[in-house]
Amino acid sequence: MSNIKDIENNILANIFKTNSSEGLQKIKISELGKKGRITLLMKSLSKATNDEKKVLGKSYNELRINVLKAFELKEQEIKDVNIINRIKNEKLDVTLSIRPGENNDEGKIHPISRTIDSIIDIFANDNFTVETGPHIENDFNNFTALNIPDDHPARQDHDTFYIKDRNNIERKLLRTHTSPVQIRTMVNQNPPIRIIAPGRTFRCDDDATHSPMFHQIEGLVIDKNINMGHLKGLIKSFCEEFFEVSNLPVRFRPSYFPFTEPSAEIDIGYNKKGNTIKIGEGSDWLEVMGCGMVHPKVLINCGLDPKEWQGFAFGLGVERFAMLKHGISDLRNFYEGDIRWLDHYGFNLIGGPSNTWLNFKED
Ligand code: PHE
Repeated sequence: MSNIKDIENNILANIFKTNSSEGLQKIKISELGKKGRITLLMKSLSKATNDEKKVLGKSYNELRINVLKAFELKEQEIKDVNIINRIKNEKLDVTLSIRPGENNDEGKIHPISRTIDSIIDIFANDNFTVETGPHIENDFNNFTALNIPDDHPARQDHDTFYIKDRNNIERKLLRTHTSPVQIRTMVNQNPPIRIIAPGRTFRCDDDATHSPMFHQIEGLVIDKNINMGHLKGLIKSFCEEFFEVSNLPVRFRPSYFPFTEPSAEIDIGYNKKGNTIKIGEGSDWLEVMGCGMVHPKVLINCGLDPKEWQGFAFGLGVERFAMLKHGISDLRNFYEGDIRWLDHYGFNLIGGPSNTWLNFKED
């Protein structure tokens, strides 16, 4: 028995003397490893008689428990000392990263932000102002006011993320399009109205061409004598400026949206050679946005008299415009946060359109 107490004292003394995790690990292996002293003692029990087993088993177990406890205490002590030393040694120089000329990690503007900025710039030159709205919307602004009542089949096309309302007062949702901003604007501002509304939108969809979060830009013009000719002229000149082509073929195809009447889908001319797309040439058509004259019911829902006011609205997908302009083939690249991809497809801060989008706080 005294022999075992000697072994214990010897191990505890070794543990006590150590002050590094590596040293502690070595002792652990030599005592508790496969061929460690304590392991071999335990193994030797198989050869002992039943009476011996009772006595020896108990003392070996005590030895093992005491040694494990000592290891645990020492490990914690080493950790604490390491932290204290690090705090002492690592003094943070907060001026280090902002010394002029020393920081080479220049950020880039994300292609989505750049595309929104380019589009804002073009419409700003046509006297449009920018309006934003919240991502979490109510049913009225996202659907009902836009002439999509509860039982309307168009609701099924919007794979909506609904949000559980704890108080059950009003059902909320993540807006499925930027159109609720046209409702908010018509309710809160007096016409004439001339706005674009860029921002995030959400639908429950996820593959190479759909992301559950994406960006739209909505346009709305309300005035006394606005007609579809104005809409066509505006969109044609916008697309020509955005895609940097003159005489761009633009086609209006009849379509349906509950909030516009008549409604149309806008196509632009393009040509596809292999995997490259050339906008403005060739005989193929590419769908780029939806539009139409604001439905009289929508005007009424916002407190405007359709006999006095009329106007048009259009909505486009920012990702689609960015992909077409910059030759990006997979939508998912935009949101993977791969720094190498951003370095390649991102834009420098200086030059290009004004970097306005970053200043808009969306919530
Ligand atoms: N809000 C429509 C959508 O997301 C797009 C649109 C906007 C169509 C304005 C017409 C007019 O599908």
